[in-house]
Amino acid sequence: MAETMKGLKRTHRCAEVTKKEIGNEVTLMGWVQKSRNKGGIIFVDLRDRSGIIQIIFEESDVKAEGFAKAEKLRSEFVIAVVGRVEARSGAVNENLATGEIEIRATELRILSEAQTPPFPIEEDSKTKEDIRLKYRFLDLRRPDIQKNLMLRSKVAASVRNFLSEEGFLEVETPMLIKSTPEGARDYLVPSRVHPGKFYALPQSPQLFKQLLMCSGYDRYFQIAKCFRDEDLRADRQPEFTQIDMELSFVDIDDVIDVNERLLKKIFKETIGIDVQLPIQRITWQEAMDRFGSDKPDTRFGMELKDISDLVAECGFGVFTGALENGGSVRGINAEGQGAMPRKKIDALVNFAKDFGAKGLAYLAINEDGTYKSSFAKFMTEEELQAIVERMEGKPGDLLFFAADKNKVVWDVLGNLRLEIARNLELLDKDKFNFLWVTEFPLLEWSEDQNRYVAMHHPFTMPMEEDLDKLDSAPGEVRAKAYDIVLNGTEVGGGSVRIFQSDIQSKMFEILGFTQEEAEERFGFLLNAFKYGVPPHAGLAYGFDRLVMLMAKEDSIREVIAFPKVKDASCLMTNAPDVVDEKQLEELEIVIAERRKDN
Ligand code: AMO
Ligand code: AMP
Repeated sequence: MAETMKGLKRTHRCAEVTKKEIGNEVTLMGWVQKSRNKGGIIFVDLRDRSGIIQIIFEESDVKAEGFAKAEKLRSEFVIAVVGRVEARSGAVNENLATGEIEIRATELRILSEAQTPPFPIEEDSKTKEDIRLKYRFLDLRRPDIQKNLMLRSKVAASVRNFLSEEGFLEVETPMLIKSTPEGARDYLVPSRVHPGKFYALPQSPQLFKQLLMCSGYDRYFQIAKCFRDEDLRADRQPEFTQIDMELSFVDIDDVIDVNERLLKKIFKETIGIDVQLPIQRITWQEAMDRFGSDKPDTRFGMELKDISDLVAECGFGVFTGALENGGSVRGINAEGQGAMPRKKIDALVNFAKDFGAKGLAYLAINEDGTYKSSFAKFMTEEELQAIVERMEGKPGDLLFFAADKNKVVWDVLGNLRLEIARNLELLDKDKFNFLWVTEFPLLEWSEDQNRYVAMHHPFTMPMEEDLDKLDSAPGEVRAKAYDIVLNGTEVGGGSVRIFQSDIQSKMFEILGFTQEEAEERFGFLLNAFKYGVPPHAGLAYGFDRLVMLMAKEDSIREVIAFPKVKDASCLMTNAPDVVDEKQLEELEIVIAERRKDN
């Protein structure tokens, strides 16, 4: 039978015991990391979330009964130990914070025994992720995940402190809301009281935070769960967390100012990084032209260059054809990669095809100044020279070119640029390169829906300079929207909102909603706007993404306690799962026959 901790009280976490305590008695409780019996003396590494400390059991100190118990210890047993802090008798362990001390045990209690875990509880686990996630309760014991979750908690606390000091009020908004399409797919929750009707889980608190501004709350924030039924990736989860905020009587610069100070403070306070202010701002157009992406990674160069004007008259049909179709020809320079073997180049061409490229042209500049190229034969020497010059090509460089519609060219080269940087290990996780991307297009043409859709959301304010283009050239209207980008990841985004009903009606009209449809979908917001609306703006961070980058991880799953996997299921609890017939009956839900077979 397991013992209890009756009469004992933990005095320290394991790694909180220091040299200063030498000679003192301490009481520690935690998990056995490992136990080594050297005959007559047993060494146990005791672990809790602070770290590890070495315990020594000798019969002369713990008596025969205690020693017999110590002999039974296995990994992951939970124990309580009373003992004296001593300087290490053996070699000092440089790898441990507590490496200069050890605890000579005088009492041992086994509080809980443990089966052998399916994988070792250790840093840098080699265990496959699906096994780790199935036994997440064990995986969460690993020091690297514990460090991540401790960092996450610290960042949240730092955010709360900063925003509270800046006069933001933390207000919770509902999780069961009305489905308001426009955006990702909603998660729906059936109503028992209203059979056939559904709540949606919020994709973000967007409309509620705007209502709070209408109600005079001035400065709101919330660390809010959001739900989006979309395809998952390393930086996307079906439920994720935002640091969400909204401010009244402000314009873009006010939002940027408070957020720059927020970022500076949390990076310094939690990971000791100095963020240089002001953070650089570039427009969406410049981001696309230079990096082929609206979330540029500026930790390395390899910027895109437009060579359309140089090849307009050339003899290479691929290039001229793209230009005739209204597209462009652009390239990047992989400096010093001129000797890249053909196989690797082909792999990059295939990579480019995944992003819609019909092909990828390349030109390697040999050390002797001659070229090795897939298209040089279609060009004159002068044309090639002009291209090389535009690309700032030197002997030993490798140039890649894509010719297509702008959107495809940007996507292909933007991603190729990242792929080459990954291959060359140029993505330094110790660098934190922030960037504001501003002046996003207001609208995006949707081929599927054959209409404009809002690039951000339907409440985003157009730039005043472009208001007169709303009718004549809606596709060219820029929005008062901004994203904050860190190392090529969109960590946050927001906008100034429309607060004038005439502009809002115009926006709905462009998006193809009738007045009735707009009323039906967003009536409560439009209604609130009839009773006095302050100008307002806001922003939301992807909290998981921010912490992922701060923790130098590649996936947000490493900073979420209980994440889901690619197919949106939870490997530990098996959600989603079937429910009782009775539950379905109450909801008046009938599952289609064809599903029942699976
Ligand atoms: P947006 O949709 O850009 O804006 O979301 C804000 C930030 O949330 C993060 N994010 C995600 N993180 C993990 N998994 C996901 N599936 C996911 N989707 C988004 C991103 C993103 O920048 N209401 C607006 C904000 C506003 O206008 O104030 C909004 O939700 O880091
Ligand atoms: P082809 O004439 O099809 O043999 O193509 C000659 C070269 O142009 C090959 O290296 C192709 O990969 C490349 N290419 C084909 N389509 C494109 C494109 N849209 N953009 C850039 N290069 C292309």
